[in-house]
Amino acid sequence: MTSYLHPIGIFDSGYGGLTILDAIRRRLPDYSYLYLGDNARAPYGIRSFDEIYRFTLEAVKFLFDEGCRLVILACNTASAKALRSIQQRDLPKIDPSRRVLGVIRPTVEQIGSLTADGRIGLFATPGTVASGSYDIEIGKLYPSFRLYSHACPSWVEIVEAGMADSIIADQAVKRDVDILFGIEPSIDTIILGCTHYPLLLDKVERHVKQRAKVVTQGQLVAESLADYLRRHPEIESQCRRDGATRFLTTGSPERFASNASIFLGHQLSAEKVTY
Ligand code: DGL
Repeated sequence: MTSYLHPIGIFDSGYGGLTILDAIRRRLPDYSYLYLGDNARAPYGIRSFDEIYRFTLEAVKFLFDEGCRLVILACNTASAKALRSIQQRDLPKIDPSRRVLGVIRPTVEQIGSLTADGRIGLFATPGTVASGSYDIEIGKLYPSFRLYSHACPSWVEIVEAGMADSIIADQAVKRDVDILFGIEPSIDTIILGCTHYPLLLDKVERHVKQRAKVVTQGQLVAESLADYLRRHPEIESQCRRDGATRFLTTGSPERFASNASIFLGHQLSAEKVTY
């Protein structure tokens, strides 16, 4: 029977999706996961719409070929720029019984219970900010809220370079926090709308200095996935449950394994893939 069951695919441009995978595995430890990081082509956040869509579709097709029936785009940039087209245009042709989910909607759904005054700050990649996806989703669910977005192009590069603990990282975070509060000092909740950014969380919180709550997405996405699986037994029943995770990267597997081991707190090995 096991061969008819499938891992849940988790896709990110690089390391950022590990923050989502980590939270999902804590919440749903029994399932089997296949993580794919397109490290060779990260960062995505400064790329064109067309490239992000094309790269994301390639990754989704690859994960489908590897057997995944359900793929989470654990990347805001891919969720903002590619999710809707893949769901509406590509999935019906590829296989309408498979599913691709993103991270923006689950985040926005929870924001109403986290903010006091509805003044929301967003740190995200230039691609996510330019897409207006958070503005659209917040506008749909909470029309009275105000969103103040600021793109932080250097943060992903810092994380991908393994420099999250450096002085350069600290300076970049301080600069961007100051800019956001310069735009609107009364922001009470800040969304880290890029899955790489939780790796800079301690610095963000230090520079925000109690002025606002800083929200990361891992737990929100994990809870939303648990709810999705509860509501969709036809998908849940196809998921393999052996608690295993395989890590795939388009970059260097040694580098991926070493960086990801530090982040996840356990040794792992990664496989190089091309597609
Ligand atoms: N981690 C991704 C996100 O959540 C994008 C990082 C990148 O620019 O590649 O937006």
